[in-house]
Amino acid sequence: MENKINVVSTLSTIMLLFLSAVEVRSGALDVVAKFGAKADEKTDLSKPLSDAWKEACASATTSSIVIPKGVYFLSQATLEGPCKAPIELQVQGTIKAPTDPKAFKEPKWIEFNKVENFKMSGGGVFDGQGTRAYKREGCDKKDFCSALPIVSVRAPKDSPNTDGIHIGRSDGVNIIDSDIRTGDDCISIGDGTKHLDVKGVTCGPGHGISIGSLGKFENEEPVEGITASKCTLSDTTNGVRIKTWAGEYGGTVSDVHFEDITVKNVSCPVIVDQKYCPSNKCKMNAESNVKLSNISFKNIRGTAALPEVVKIICSGKFPCENVELADIDIKYSGPKGPGVSECKNVKPKITGKQNPPACAAPVPPNPTPTV
Ligand SMILES: *[C@@H]1O[C@H](CO)[C@@H](O)[C@H](O)[C@H]1NC(C)=O
Ligand SMILES: *[C@@H]1O[C@H](CO)[C@@H](O)[C@H](O)[C@H]1NC(C)=O
Repeated sequence: MENKINVVSTLSTIMLLFLSAVEVRSGALDVVAKFGAKADEKTDLSKPLSDAWKEACASATTSSIVIPKGVYFLSQATLEGPCKAPIELQVQGTIKAPTDPKAFKEPKWIEFNKVENFKMSGGGVFDGQGTRAYKREGCDKKDFCSALPIVSVRAPKDSPNTDGIHIGRSDGVNIIDSDIRTGDDCISIGDGTKHLDVKGVTCGPGHGISIGSLGKFENEEPVEGITASKCTLSDTTNGVRIKTWAGEYGGTVSDVHFEDITVKNVSCPVIVDQKYCPSNKCKMNAESNVKLSNISFKNIRGTAALPEVVKIICSGKFPCENVELADIDIKYSGPKGPGVSECKNVKPKITGKQNPPACAAPVPPNPTPTV
């Protein structure tokens, strides 16, 4: 996803509340002052935004575009690179999508394509207007409303590397009421993600909600303050997951809470994998250098497609600290049963119902970090 980000959401409103304290540079390209945009909820922001983008993209030095506070209407935008220098887009206002499905010529609203060194900030909102679009005549009481302009985030189940939404180095992002079907992670949370709130998201097919992988690169920033609640995952390979590479580099993950999650036929519903090592690209027997602490899994219910229902495999070098498993009730009824719960290098606090029975906690007698 490095050079292609599609912001496509009508089912939902994705709020971007980046808290980075970036000053508006004096040379910022203000879409209102310089490109004739109007915050009146009806004048199309499309041309002012694309004009500003063209100027920014052609600039040989770092540039920033500012969409000041106010409510704007945007029919569609394709913001394309390659650009000559880094670009920052500061969205301070609220940008609203058309409510009429016929307004879309293509099934997408805002597309960022072939852009490197791109930063979005500003505390604004992208409002896909899903609530209004779905209330239109003919959509009532139907699971699928064919006249809708965009059906959230979609990619085929077998499409590799198609993360639904990837987030990294961002503070204060909320992902609310979105529907994501893809061939890779539904939501992928990379290093430097702070204060992320995922709520009411449905996923599947795909790989579930995933933090990581982490530890593959040097100097990764901490991941902290992640909450995923009231989400439903169907037919995904994982439910809620934290993965870090075996061996490799250090890092930290703390204050992560998964709560009120429904899983339906999910292969591995609850998983911490600190031995992540795809295609044997690492030393499988090395311990991860990423430290996990203050992690909770609460009220996770539903069905699993495989017997390993709960798997908390922590680092032997940096055992997980302060992990809580509360009210886990996940049935596995396939031929390989019964469902099991496995833990390594962790002593979880266990409360409430536990189905399968909560893991025994084999922890090395003296888990003092060797580094
Ligand atoms: C459950 O998931 C597995 C593997 O993803 C799939 O093969 C199977 O058809 C699913 N079962 C149901 C009942 O949907
Ligand atoms: C974990 O939680 C405890 C108790 O709330 C707190 O004192 C500690 O600082 C937290 N650790 C991290 C790494 O956030």
